[in-house]
Amino acid sequence: MTTALTVRSHAKLNWYLRVLDPRPDGYHDLETIFETLELADTLRFTPLDAAECRISGFPPDVPAERNLITRAWQVLREEFPERVRGLQVEAEKTLPRGGGLGGGSSNAAAALLALDRLYGLSLPTERLVELGARLGSDVAFFVMGGCAVATGRGEILTPLEAPGEFHLVLVLPDEPVPTGEAYARLDAIARPAPAAALGEAAEAVKAGDPVRLARLIVNDFELVVVDRPWFRKCCEALREGGALRAFLCGSGSTVAGLAENQEGAAEILRHVHESCPYPAYHTTARALSLIR
Ligand code: C5P
Repeated sequence: MTTALTVRSHAKLNWYLRVLDPRPDGYHDLETIFETLELADTLRFTPLDAAECRISGFPPDVPAERNLITRAWQVLREEFPERVRGLQVEAEKTLPRGGGLGGGSSNAAAALLALDRLYGLSLPTERLVELGARLGSDVAFFVMGGCAVATGRGEILTPLEAPGEFHLVLVLPDEPVPTGEAYARLDAIARPAPAAALGEAAEAVKAGDPVRLARLIVNDFELVVVDRPWFRKCCEALREGGALRAFLCGSGSTVAGLAENQEGAAEILRHVHESCPYPAYHTTARALSLIR
């Protein structure tokens, strides 16, 4: 049995995100393209003899029992009570809460993958994807990692092989957006029917062409925040710095600026630091796996 495992729990962004109709189960059907980001939390997982999950290093505002890592441990304990025992998790958090970068979902996927490894379960990826989808709509993607087109509520995944790498500047306004609330607000707004541009956007991602991709980025959640001063301020700073496109990440509130290349991103970051009060980072989008 492995004794401990350190995992980089990467963030994601959505290059394309169309929210379709509400479904009878309370979720919405989506059309989206996910890609992992270099930006990550670091999580250290250690097995425990006692059948408990101990977590440290997380902000105190979420009780441990509601942390998705605890839920991931519970799900695997229920499925494999004879094999899975306790888990200790020490986190170095970088990813913001309510930032639309999938931090909680990524942590949950990291926990599933780590428990699979630490307790020698050797579950097939499809089984881990299915268990992940029970924890949250984005968890399934993080189990696979890399880059994927997703439909259903986000859990039906078609991997995009060998996608391009892109340089980005992320601006993190301190305006956490609870996901469920963002969907409810979006439902209250009339929005245009989706144009059939998912395939074109996927091609631009595969080609690694930021200029083409910049024209095809869509995020329906921008309709919810378009008039918010923080969103305008972030977009303005990113564009003035030279971003090809400024756009909302997931359901918000992180705002991303797509750069033409690494030097472009450095220039954008300089400008954002000078003109915007919020923390900002240079990162890359590329196909990364959490463990496997
Ligand atoms: O799946 P997850 O727990 O991340 O979703 C949080 C909330 O976001 C759900 O309770 C639901 O209200 C909303 N949601 C949705 N459609 C999706 C994903 C999430 O309506 N495809």
